Amino acid sequence: MTEWLRRMMLPVNQGSDFAREVDFTFMGLYWLSVVLFLIVIGPMVYFTWRYRYKPGRVTPHQTHNTVMEVTWTVIPTVICFLIFLWGVNGYMKFAVPPGEALEIQVVGKQWLWTFEYPDGTRSVNEMHVPVNKNIRLVMSSEDVLHDFYVPDMRIKRDIVPGRYTQEWFRADNGAIGEHTSTCAEYCGKGHSDMHAKVMVDTPADYDKWMATGGTEWEDYKTHMQDWGKIQYDRKGCSTCHSVDGSASKGPTWKGIWGTMVKLNDGKSVLVDEAYVRESMMLPQAKIVAGFDPIMPTFQGLLRENEIQGLMAYIKSLK
Ligand code: CUA
Repeated sequence: MTEWLRRMMLPVNQGSDFAREVDFTFMGLYWLSVVLFLIVIGPMVYFTWRYRYKPGRVTPHQTHNTVMEVTWTVIPTVICFLIFLWGVNGYMKFAVPPGEALEIQVVGKQWLWTFEYPDGTRSVNEMHVPVNKNIRLVMSSEDVLHDFYVPDMRIKRDIVPGRYTQEWFRADNGAIGEHTSTCAEYCGKGHSDMHAKVMVDTPADYDKWMATGGTEWEDYKTHMQDWGKIQYDRKGCSTCHSVDGSASKGPTWKGIWGTMVKLNDGKSVLVDEAYVRESMMLPQAKIVAGFDPIMPTFQGLLRENEIQGLMAYIKSLK
């Protein structure tokens, strides 16, 4: 009960200095509304009762009351203006990223996120940022409207095809660890699966992540199939391909290796290394019968070891 009450009154998971400011503004407005509500509704209820109908009671004729009318016009006007200044101040801070910031390119496409770092490292559905640094996200879309929303950081902005938009934040010490981002603009079938992990790293962890090209590949070299399983979750394959035979947006991977699959042009193809690789790089080349041509290309998004891992993983799914 107390936890519930605390969550009602105090916002949680404030991952950035923005979060505190946004929450302060929001809660300020919230409590101001509560107070105004009581000021208006309280007397109304009281007067309704106090001056209720009684036989013979007559209301005296009132024309106006200048002092009261000026008061209830001027005070709210001043309050509204102060709120406006308060809001503009916060909006300007959000809208104009600081000059010194780490720039990460964010690309949204149906239905995954890719991130590119200044040194060319790329990752899919997982963004790493160092703690206590200004992070500027330069965002674009390859197809339709998306929106990169990180609730814990209180940042959210639309991504518009053919245009760059940006947003920024600085994660503070308390935010070290995992956060979730989500797409906040309806973008089709897979919209609700369009999440990305946002990892706030210590400077040392961030450097380590960058140095290994965003992978812990070394640990998995000898376990290709486990490596593939990690890529399956991390690169977004799981959004469209099941591994237990259940229906999804794309063909299930279970038992598919080494079989002949029917394509939508009536031909068949053997599921082998060549076909699987082509499907990752040029997904529109061959479409399995009964499925829509909706898979995005992974050209440039998968390292060779990741492709090998995925193949080993698919092979293992008997
Ligand atoms: Cu992307 Cu909704």
